[in-house]
Amino acid sequence: MASAYRYTFLQRLLHWIIALVVFGLLAIGFVFWRLGDGIVDTLGKETTGQLFMYHKSFGVLLLILMVLRLVLRRLSPPPAYEKPLTGLEKVISGGTLLLLYILLIGLPIGGWLATAAGGHPVQFFDWTLPGFVGENKALSEQLFTYHGYAALAVAALLVLHIAAGIKHWKLKDGIMRRISLP
Ligand code: HEM
Repeated sequence: MASAYRYTFLQRLLHWIIALVVFGLLAIGFVFWRLGDGIVDTLGKETTGQLFMYHKSFGVLLLILMVLRLVLRRLSPPPAYEKPLTGLEKVISGGTLLLLYILLIGLPIGGWLATAAGGHPVQFFDWTLPGFVGENKALSEQLFTYHGYAALAVAALLVLHIAAGIKHWKLKDGIMRRISLP
């Protein structure tokens, strides 16, 4: 397939790194949701602390990678389609991707502010980042509620996105080659 129909290598690499990071974040988020307040009793203090540290650190990493992705998108706009999409395909795929962009940038920002408002450190591996908002438990609770809903929306959109990806991979119509690594 001509490279005119593919994202640049860096964009393709970033797509798959972001995919791994998002799956990891959703998995840890699912554990938090399932265990709720009993998490320390089930997993112990140390493991719980590690899980929170990794969730926050990979969340901040996701934000950095998404900003980088937007910059690369400005520099190299999405490639043309080998076979033009129908109007309906354009609306569904464009809408899904736009919502994914909005949610994958909004989720880490919301998580960051919710953490800070809850009086917890915003950890990025060995560093502690500024919180930007003062302690406000009610605000933190509200933001964490939205954080959970947004994560659910991402999971639902990903089911759609991945089902479409698998369909195109089976159809061998070149859409998967736009984003595949090799
Ligand atoms: C957490 C997982 C994933 C996330 C967050 C994600 C997100 C995205 C986003 C935002 C784009 C748009 C790129 C752009 O135009 O700038 C995209 C494109 C694409 N993704 Fe994913 N993706 C994920 C997983 C997958 C998987 C597992 C597949 C395959 C089964 C896949 C297949 C594709 C394809 C084929 C495109 C190109 C669509 C096109 O250009 O029309 N993605 N993805």
